[in-house]
Amino acid sequence: MDFEPFQYMRFAKRLEYADGIFMAGSGMYRPKADLLKFKESDFTLESLCSNYGDPRNVAWLAEHYATSGENVALTAGSSEANFLVFAALLHAGDKVIVESPGYPQFSSLASLVGAEVVKLPRRFEDGFQPDLDEFKKLLDDSVRLVVLTNLHNPSMARMSPEVMREIAAAAAEVGAKVLVDEVYLDHLRPGEGDESALKAGENVVVTSSLTKVYGLSGLRFGWAVGPKKLVSKMLDLADVVDPELSTVAQNMAHRALENLSRLRPVARRLHERNWPVVKEWLESREDVEYYHPPGGITVWMKVNGVEETGNLATVARQDYGVLVVPGEYFQSPGWLRVGYKIEPTSVREGLSRLGKAIDDFKSH
Ligand SMILES: Cc1ncc(COP(=O)(O)O)c(C=O)c1O
Repeated sequence: MDFEPFQYMRFAKRLEYADGIFMAGSGMYRPKADLLKFKESDFTLESLCSNYGDPRNVAWLAEHYATSGENVALTAGSSEANFLVFAALLHAGDKVIVESPGYPQFSSLASLVGAEVVKLPRRFEDGFQPDLDEFKKLLDDSVRLVVLTNLHNPSMARMSPEVMREIAAAAAEVGAKVLVDEVYLDHLRPGEGDESALKAGENVVVTSSLTKVYGLSGLRFGWAVGPKKLVSKMLDLADVVDPELSTVAQNMAHRALENLSRLRPVARRLHERNWPVVKEWLESREDVEYYHPPGGITVWMKVNGVEETGNLATVARQDYGVLVVPGEYFQSPGWLRVGYKIEPTSVREGLSRLGKAIDDFKSH
């Protein structure tokens, strides 16, 4: 099978084991176990049947999204949820609209099913909001899927419900579905724009997981919520690739969901504690422009005067011991994605090292 390798994922996995101050991650650190209130029975071999995941988790999500269990598919992370959406919907030669800069899993998935990628720009000048007229011009009868992230990875920009509804309605006119990956959405405070796109149209499917905001990537607990027919096809595919989901992970995820309201503020507090430190550094640099994220633990910045941030990131890692993501992985040479989930003193030290790396890089 020919497909475009997911270079960013390979890079991110390797970097986790590299030496240096780690400012490349976009996921929270693991929560303290006592916040999740595990029970001994969660870890027994006699736990619940979990062919399609734990029914308690399906029920929790159905209630959370105000829909029915038939609209919910449990998956191994949002990555698998995204894969199942692509595989269920697309045929070779179909077009899929993908945002740029954007999370590169989507173009890898398109290549896997032989679909053609059409890029929807999200520009710094527009606060990384898609231009609706431009979007509508990209639509035609061969577009089967539109893919967005909210919050937007890499900028963390939030998309308004109005824009989401317009996008869903325009896509519906050509018979296309809209996939909104909401894995970063809970970085917003409840009630402050964290509304799921699910209700933006009947052609919308949303995906998410306990990875990014909750620090539970290791559970591989994700989901898709969308139209019944699509979800049913995704479950047909799950029969092919997932005879069962991990029972223990489902039990642990059940505890996480039960305690989500206690877990969620942890990431928010981290953003609020560290963002001022990051902002102070950004403001101190005349050669850096950035997008002010409404939440989250990463910032997307442009280093003026540097065209290849891939090389800059290598200098930062090898000579200054700080790890950041070069914009090339998000189709944006000249940009960096810098994470700040670490202690404030390490954030300060990491940014100071990054500043030295930029100065050094520019002087050559
Ligand atoms: C937009 C987006 N979706 C999904 C993922 C992967 O998440 P998961 O662990 O839920 O598969 C990432 C990870 O970086 C991401 O940025």
